[in-house]
Amino acid sequence: MSLEISPAGTGSCALLARLHGLCFSEAWTQDAFASLLAKPGAFSFLASTEESGQPMPAGFALGRAGGGECEIVTLGVVPARRNVGTATALLGAIVARARSLCIEDLLLEVAADNTAALALYRSAAFIAVGRRKGYYRAAHHPVHEDGAHEDRVDAIIMRRSLLP
Ligand SMILES: CC(C)(COP(=O)(O)OP(=O)(O)OC[C@H]1O[C@@H](n2cnc3c(N)ncnc32)[C@H](O)[C@@H]1OP(=O)(O)O)[C@@H](O)C(=O)NCCC(=O)NCCS
Repeated sequence: MSLEISPAGTGSCALLARLHGLCFSEAWTQDAFASLLAKPGAFSFLASTEESGQPMPAGFALGRAGGGECEIVTLGVVPARRNVGTATALLGAIVARARSLCIEDLLLEVAADNTAALALYRSAAFIAVGRRKGYYRAAHHPVHEDGAHEDRVDAIIMRRSLLP
């Protein structure tokens, strides 16, 4: 099974939204991806595997570069294609793009209870540099109508220096 990472433009917004919906409990729309990709410095990659001669979408990443930094805005791998290095390959493509733009720092935010993503980013040399209290709504806890007992999850801010 071969894995290919390729740049994705505005023509891929429907696919990006579909993949995002397979990876996150709150799916982003095609329009949301279109407006994100229209922002200055935004770029995206798709991961695909070849099966029986056909390319099968496996994952995606969207980043935004500016001011010497690059933010990883979102990244996901569809459940059936996880744990074989797809996210690592997407991160590699982001690092290469950032280096080509002379970016010094990669930044991202990840939910404090997202053990898979924390393991991914740690294995890719990101370190935790901050925390936003209660930044995310916890997907696995019930949300009450009045919001009074809504459970929130902290966001961990992670950074990776690209300096030699
Ligand atoms: C997090 C996610 C992107 C990982 O994708 P993946 O293709 O399975 O990751 P990889 O195969 O490249 O694994 C990279 C590293 O993370 C670790 N990892 C991945 N999933 C893991 C899990 N469920 N538990 C523990 N470690 C895990 C791997 O062991 C590997 O570590 P290693 O390099 O030391 O061997 C994927 O689980 C996903 O899409 N989750 C839902 C969306 C999401 O949370 N995105 C990130 C938001 S910030």
